[in-house]
Amino acid sequence: MKKWVRRLSGKGTANRKLEHIRIVLEKDVESSEGTLLEYVRLPHNPLPELNMDEIDTSVELFGKKLKAPIMITGMTGGHPEVAWINSAIAKVAEKYGIAMGVGSQRAALEDPKLEDTFRVARENAPNAVIVANIGGAQLSKGLEIEKIEKIVDMIKADALAIHLNPAQEAFQPEGEPVYRNVIKEIKKIVDELNVPIIVKETGAGLNGAVARELWELGVRCFDVSGLGGTSWIKVETLRKDFRRNPDGFPDLWGNPTAVSIIDLRTSVPDACIIASGGIRSGLDVAKSITIGADLGGFALPALRALSLRGEEGLERFIDDTIWQIRVAMFLTGSRNIDMLRMVRPVIWGRLLEELKSLGISLEELSMAKIRRILSKRRGREG
Ligand SMILES: Cc1cc2nc3c(=O)[nH]c(=O)nc-3n(C[C@H](O)[C@H](O)[C@H](O)COP(=O)(O)O)c2cc1C
Repeated sequence: MKKWVRRLSGKGTANRKLEHIRIVLEKDVESSEGTLLEYVRLPHNPLPELNMDEIDTSVELFGKKLKAPIMITGMTGGHPEVAWINSAIAKVAEKYGIAMGVGSQRAALEDPKLEDTFRVARENAPNAVIVANIGGAQLSKGLEIEKIEKIVDMIKADALAIHLNPAQEAFQPEGEPVYRNVIKEIKKIVDELNVPIIVKETGAGLNGAVARELWELGVRCFDVSGLGGTSWIKVETLRKDFRRNPDGFPDLWGNPTAVSIIDLRTSVPDACIIASGGIRSGLDVAKSITIGADLGGFALPALRALSLRGEEGLERFIDDTIWQIRVAMFLTGSRNIDMLRMVRPVIWGRLLEELKSLGISLEELSMAKIRRILSKRRGREG
């Protein structure tokens, strides 16, 4: 696998994706700042009154049933060298009944020969929830709805993720930090596309105010992708063409994942919320659910597992993650995901202080979690 990583280099848009993958696999690209999930503790229940084999980890997403609340979030496609990554992720997603995203499909719009590097996802996961992907920066310049429909059809996607990455664009040597008109374009897509939209960040975190604005436009699902995991500012500053002084940005810039989850749950209580950005274990997923998320998302750990031990390595990672979620459910006495959602975690330190400074109370979070369960039952969810 190491030889494969060394081959990944080159210049220009077509090869940038490969360079990114090589950097994230070879260098330390995670922020030194944590997700703040380290300030969340699940209360141990010494008398759970249930057996571990009774636990139901399933959830619903876009009308399909997931066997566990996990998504491998969008990373790749767009170069022949990486098609195998999408096909391996798809096989594992199908086997374990979890969701997956593909990376930005912009490359396939520019060069139809690259469509196959995305199509392999649906070919290998006929039943899984698969999410298409396009960038907000591309929308700024206007992208016809036919093109959006094309990327959705390419993989028979269950939803479309629109990724927001202004921090990455600002630090990318050849980046395009253009974000005017994106809100208008998102509204157009919500109105005209016949699959749901997820708006996602890419490691610097969504916030409640933006989610509220997008909710008003009809967006019903959000992937917070907060600070605490892969830092795209860091990745860009590690590239050989980067010439500026990034100062404290790579390690510190962004809304920490735990803050972002709580900010969104209290701002858009009925929304579907995916916790990602530095989620590294089943315990992280379980904690995220108790502070308002519906499921957890992984990018870098999935890629690392694949690069080290191939498909088997990824299977093992997902298998362990699901087992850890089950253990956390058993030890909090949660028979199903709604019961886990209602566990009241202990929250302290930095996380509590950040929430206070944002004017968010834990009572508000409890009320929002109850509202989410009721809205799901009434079928009003995103
Ligand atoms: C190699 C790699 C490529 C990525 N490419 C995309 C992309 O094309 N579109 C996107 O929405 N997010 C992309 N992401 C961001 C991830 O989906 C995720 O939001 C972010 O990495 C934080 O999660 P993590 O800390 O688990 O890596 C990429 C991440 C990685 C590691």
